[in-house]
Parts: sequence; C-alpha cells; structure tokens
Amino acid sequence: MTSTLLADAPGVAVTQAPGAAERARHLYFSLYDDPAAIPGEAQSFLAEQIAAASALPADLPPTLVGMPAWIEERTDAVGAQYRDYLAARKAGAPRRYFHCRAHALYFLKGVAPTKLVDGAWLYGLLRQWDKPACHPLIKTYLEELGEGVPDKNHVTIYRKLLATHGCEGWEELDDSHFLQGAIQLALGHHAERFLPEVIGYNLGYEQLPLHLLITSYELNELGIDPYYFTLHVTVDNAASGHARKAVQALADLMPRVGDREAFYRRVLDGYRLNELGASTTSVIAGFDLQAELVDILAAKSKVGKNMHSDYCRVAGRSVNDWLLDPARIPDFLAALEQAGWIKRGEDVEHSRFWRLVHGERAEMFGVFNAYEQQVLRDWITTAPDGETAAGPRVLTHRARRRTLDTLGQDAGRGAAFPERGLIRRHRSEETGNELRLLEQQVASASGKQEAMELLAGLMSPEVHHTAVGLMATRLYTRLFDA
Ligand SMILES: [Fe+2]
Repeated sequence: MTSTLLADAPGVAVTQAPGAAERARHLYFSLYDDPAAIPGEAQSFLAEQIAAASALPADLPPTLVGMPAWIEERTDAVGAQYRDYLAARKAGAPRRYFHCRAHALYFLKGVAPTKLVDGAWLYGLLRQWDKPACHPLIKTYLEELGEGVPDKNHVTIYRKLLATHGCEGWEELDDSHFLQGAIQLALGHHAERFLPEVIGYNLGYEQLPLHLLITSYELNELGIDPYYFTLHVTVDNAASGHARKAVQALADLMPRVGDREAFYRRVLDGYRLNELGASTTSVIAGFDLQAELVDILAAKSKVGKNMHSDYCRVAGRSVNDWLLDPARIPDFLAALEQAGWIKRGEDVEHSRFWRLVHGERAEMFGVFNAYEQQVLRDWITTAPDGETAAGPRVLTHRARRRTLDTLGQDAGRGAAFPERGLIRRHRSEETGNELRLLEQQVASASGKQEAMELLAGLMSPEVHHTAVGLMATRLYTRLFDA
C-alpha cells in the first residue's frame, strides 16, 4: 500500500483537538502491544479523527457510477505529471525530493511508523472470509502480507530496508509521525464498527500517487533500493491491482437495502482520514541537514560527554566540556571547522573528524551508525553555500535509466542492488515447536470456521511478520483460495 491522494497538493489546514498527535503516539504503541486492551480509546480516537477531517475536500465522484472514470482520470493525470518530471530531469533539473542521500534516508525513517503497519486497516476483514463481498479487501490484505512469503511481506521488506541503512530509531520521531499508523491500526482492530470508513480509507490509500513514482526514481538514483516503493507502483495499479479491488469492494459492500447515501457519506469520511498527520511530502519538506546532524550529536553527547580524555581539545575547550550542554553543538561544529578538523565542501577523506568516525580502524568506530554517518558525510561534503563535493554514492545515468525501463514490471530488481533473499529463514528450536503446534491446532480444528479464526488471530499487524504469523498467513491463504 502506498500513500494518500492529496499528498501532492498543498496542505489543507486541519483543526485537531489539543494533544491529538500525542494521543496518536500512545495509541499506536498501545495497539501494537495489546490491541484488546483499549477498545474504547481506539474508537473514540477514530471518531475524533473523522470529525477533524470532515472539513477537508474529498474529490470522489458523487456516486459509484462515476468511479471508473474518476480512477482513469486520476491515473492519467499522475502519468502526465510524471512524464513532465522526467522531461525536466532529463533537461538538467535537480532532484525534486531528496537533496542528498541523507535526506532520502531521513524520509525512510520518517514514514516508518506508517509503513511498518502497512495494510493494517484491513486486518479486521479476515474473519469475514465466508462473505464473497469482503474478498477483494481480504485479498488485498493477504498481498500486503506477501501471502506469508517472508521476502514478499511488505512490512518485512520495509524493516529490512530500515536495518540496511541504520534507520531503525524511528520510535523517537515527533508525535505527528504516528497519526496515520494509529488510524490504520484502530481501523484494523475495529473494522466491523467502522466498515464504511475502512472501505473509504482503503480507496484513498490504494490510488497511485505521483510522489510514489518520484520517490522510487530518486531513491534508485541515490543508490537506495527502491523495491518497497516500486512494488507498490505495480500492486496498486488501476487496471487489476489494489486500486481496482478497492472500487470493487465498495460496489460489493454498499447496502442494497437501507440508506446508501449515509453509507457513502461514511466512505467519504474514511477517504479523508488519509489526509491527516505527517505525509510523504511533509516528511520530505521537514528535512534540515544541519539540524539533523545537531540532533544526532546532541543525542550522542548524553554518553559522549564523559568519554573523552582531557587531551581532546577543540578551540581551547575539552571535547567533554563541549558536549556537556547539547545547546553548544552548533558552536562545537563551527569550532571543528575553524580548527580544520572538518573541511566542508571537500571530499570527506580530507576531514580529520570524518576519519575518526569512519572505517574499521577509526578511533570512534561503531559510534555512528550507517544513517548517522551519511548525515555527517553529506553535511561535510556540502559547503555552506550549498555546493556539493562529488560523492561516490550517486549512480550513473545508465543505472537510473535501467530502473525507468523496468518500472511497472518487476522494477527495482535490476543489477544495481543485491538480491533480496537476505531475510533469513531462521528457525530456532522454540520457533520450530511453535510452528508444529500451530499445524496441529489447525489440523484438529472442528471446521474451516475455527481454523480460519485461529489463523486470523495470528495475522494481526503486530504479529503477521513473525515466523508464526507468516506461517499462519500461508495456511490462511491456502484455505481462503480452496
Ligand atoms: Fe504495501
């Protein structure tokens, strides 16, 4: 699943209740830890978010009849905008989203709370396996989970991507980053009560947005595997993918008898929920290279303030003294520059400070992870006037074209990135026992209903990417298709 419809458009003001983002963070982790513990809180949070989004425009057609034309129009418009983007890039325009590699990694980390619950809003449909009208949504959820194949499970793919680049510390992000994820988890755990909103949310999330295409292109250009993103270009496609299934689900689940208009109004409410909280474009816009480096050093100073000998002095002050107060970090960086320890706008190897942190024999080896080193590297190679020293990380034009050629097919799997079969099928004895026990329980179930319920319980957003969750997904998929 990808992202929101209006996210490419300028932001629309939303009035949130005081403390809404803080509650979203709390709810996000609570639902992840114990989904059953706070049903009332999750439902009142959703009601509050629906009210907050009610003033936002929803560009869906007034009735179902107009839906295929609406999707086609949107897809054409995104295609035309992407063609314009490519033409501009070919003519020499700079990257639109990511000024440097650290910026792209910052984005991966910033959207992690949402991506790590990818598909969560559909979880509650699993127990409706015997209702054909729910099948398009269940099928979409199963595809999000890679039908239980580890290296096709979207959450597993994203976790791997974060780990590859040292971007795991997303739990400390600002509260607004957790709003979309909290909405998705709350919808997933209360799908029966919020079915029209789930359908509408899904309809919005599953349309192909321009930012997905540009993000894929620029990540690849920066030598970052875009597979998670290119995968969504293909699975969300309007012809046969999740976008099509989203419309089918709406058509099948609209009541035949009863208030269809009221139902559709609630679908629109769910659709608008996509617009709340941090989005792809707002996260990208929030990046400031200097501020990010200062934050990283300030976090390190909590430990580092006692770790240096008194002989380590910069501008007459010991390093421990510089690190005592995080507010001094910008001055510390300036002092390192003035003392010649850092030479901005030049190759990093010219900077003594870089050589202290980078390389296996570096004195501070292991202190900065991959992401933090990238931020430091980009800050050093970028001169204060914005000019950048040539870095080794940007791919050639030829490599970029290869991704474009394959985008929409099995994109991102070109020779530019290593094979992705790195997700280990690690089975400890304990895990093996658990899997055997699950097989036994399914085999001894009194019927399909009991088996499906048992399996669905292990396919929740917080469990489906574990060994037992993946196996439950494989078994559920087999029974679902039987
Ligand atoms: Fe996905």
